[in-house]
Amino acid sequence: MTSVTTPGLDNAPTTHAKLLSWVQEVAELTTPDRVVWVDGSDEEWTRLTEQLVAAGTFTRLAAKPNSFLAQSDPSDVARVEDRTFICSVDEADAGPTNNWMDPAEMKSLMTELYRGCMRGRTMYVIPFCMGPIEAESPMFGVELTDSEYVVVSMRVMARVGTAALEAMGTDRPFVPALHSLGAPLDEGQQDVAWPCSTTKYIVQFPEERTIWSYGSGYGGNALLGKKCYSLRIASVMARDEGWLAEHMLILKLTSPQQKTHYIAAAFPSACGKTNLAMLEPTIPGWKVETLGDDIAWMRFGEDGRLYALNPEFGLFGVAPGTGWDTNPNAMRTIEAGNSVFTNVALTDDGDVWWEGMTDDAPAHLTDWKGRDWTPDSAEPSSHPNSRFCTPITQCPILAPEWDDPKGVPISAILFGGRRKTTIPLVSEARDWNHGVFMGATLSSETTAAATGAVGVIRRDPFAMLPFIGYNAGDYVSHWVETGKGADAAKLPKIFYVNWFRRDADGGFLWPGFGENSRVLKWVVERLEGTAAAVETPVGHVPTPGSLDVSGLGMTVEQVESALAVDKDEWRQEIPQITEWFEKFGDKLPGTMWDELEILKSRLDG
Ligand code: GDP
Ligand code: PGA
Ligand code: MN
Ligand code: MN
Repeated sequence: MTSVTTPGLDNAPTTHAKLLSWVQEVAELTTPDRVVWVDGSDEEWTRLTEQLVAAGTFTRLAAKPNSFLAQSDPSDVARVEDRTFICSVDEADAGPTNNWMDPAEMKSLMTELYRGCMRGRTMYVIPFCMGPIEAESPMFGVELTDSEYVVVSMRVMARVGTAALEAMGTDRPFVPALHSLGAPLDEGQQDVAWPCSTTKYIVQFPEERTIWSYGSGYGGNALLGKKCYSLRIASVMARDEGWLAEHMLILKLTSPQQKTHYIAAAFPSACGKTNLAMLEPTIPGWKVETLGDDIAWMRFGEDGRLYALNPEFGLFGVAPGTGWDTNPNAMRTIEAGNSVFTNVALTDDGDVWWEGMTDDAPAHLTDWKGRDWTPDSAEPSSHPNSRFCTPITQCPILAPEWDDPKGVPISAILFGGRRKTTIPLVSEARDWNHGVFMGATLSSETTAAATGAVGVIRRDPFAMLPFIGYNAGDYVSHWVETGKGADAAKLPKIFYVNWFRRDADGGFLWPGFGENSRVLKWVVERLEGTAAAVETPVGHVPTPGSLDVSGLGMTVEQVESALAVDKDEWRQEIPQITEWFEKFGDKLPGTMWDELEILKSRLDG
């Protein structure tokens, strides 16, 4: 099929020459039945959601307005890190933590996969912008996809459609992002509810700032504005242009004295970002407002402070564990409707349910695989990485300045992970480089957000292991350089938190969720110089009296265990950190080895 015969190709609502020729080239390669330019209108949304219901991909929820349940193919439920590649020209630029293939080799391999891959389907052209379209340099992208689920989800997660396309004008740069399910349909062939391929590739070409994704419909693999653009490609742009693209939430904290601070926090996937971003403080007089729950782009402002912006437009949150007790603001956000739920359970009255939403499970559900489910069933009703996809504007505690193109000035950065032992509830870095060391050595147990084993401890630098678009050693250097070039007094202070430490019986030592406001309070009091701390080998940790635990019902011993810095436990980290650093060869900045020496000598002192 040629361009002349592909309906829709010739009535493009743009004269952007580069965009037009790329769309034509991809249509010729993938041979869709038609091309549709996504305008982002309500009429389009109605048409697509009706189509998805008719195809069996979506079940309309009777109990929530404009909301749908999707049950994916059981093999397509998470990011596929082993199928994700950084195809830099030079292998060294992908570094020791990414999969790499020669870009020309990858392109020829994937071109054969893409050949005819949209046969029997529609190719959608989704113009989008990450961050506000009114920004000084708007960050445009265009995703080509053969998935209606992707179009409907992208409309929630990014600013899509006519407004973005018009702002692109005739020649503004954009990131081309090609996506296919890899499931062509022959004439008369019956489609399945969740088409995908057993062959999957999630590929970034950093020099060309281009994304090629094939074979998966799952959010992190298929909504290309999110991880692929706003983290992997943006981290490369950020290195080149002197800013930071990070896997961080952004929140605004107001004290009873009406002082406000903006805080960013990097935790690996499924380790508490969305929850902390929407926290409902348990301590009187403190207020949290949300700006972002997954990604922060940070640049220095004219005043020398570091400003953070959330480039996304929606929330793609982990469903299990989200409930009225743990995250009531997420529940309120979802209640407003306009959401796509993936791989959760369906109630008999047309609502969604998942483990942790309420204390008692409904007597009967349809589980994420479409089977009858009762509380006696052997498996959970929802996949552990099931998700809600919801407009961020529905969040009842959204900070009004959340979409200010200049961002908000960050006072503190928290790093954190899921560790049963060793890492104290909170510690404060001595200075920027010590904070960078905390980020570079961050470790966490793996979760269901990526395919593979769950619960295995791995190093996850800056919670960015799956998302750094270049050499991780260069990435650590970029963080060191960011601090060098700045006025130290204006840099955010860095902290390391761990909500997931366990007691001898395996229970959480710290109640977490809304009670994490007590840790935020200590952080702010450290910024303001009013909270006490003890200096330990790993940083400043609250004194027994300086962390507000009033009314918590924890014993002194429990609080001490949560805060403990056990030298023996930490000594066991040293060989692991050493082995980790050795992977980077001479790319790792010497300051990181210096920090390791400081840690060792403090542990021996
Ligand atoms: P994200 O993927 O980093 O945004 O993480 P989420 O905020 O969605 O949380 C992932 C999982 O961790 C959910 O099941 C949460 O219920 C759980 N979680 C989040 N915060 C806490 C906490 O403070 N303590 C405990 N024990 N679990 C938490
Ligand atoms: P998460 O986002 O960090 O909220 O889990 C999705 C992901 O990282 O895969
Ligand atoms: Mn994430
Ligand atoms: Mn999240």
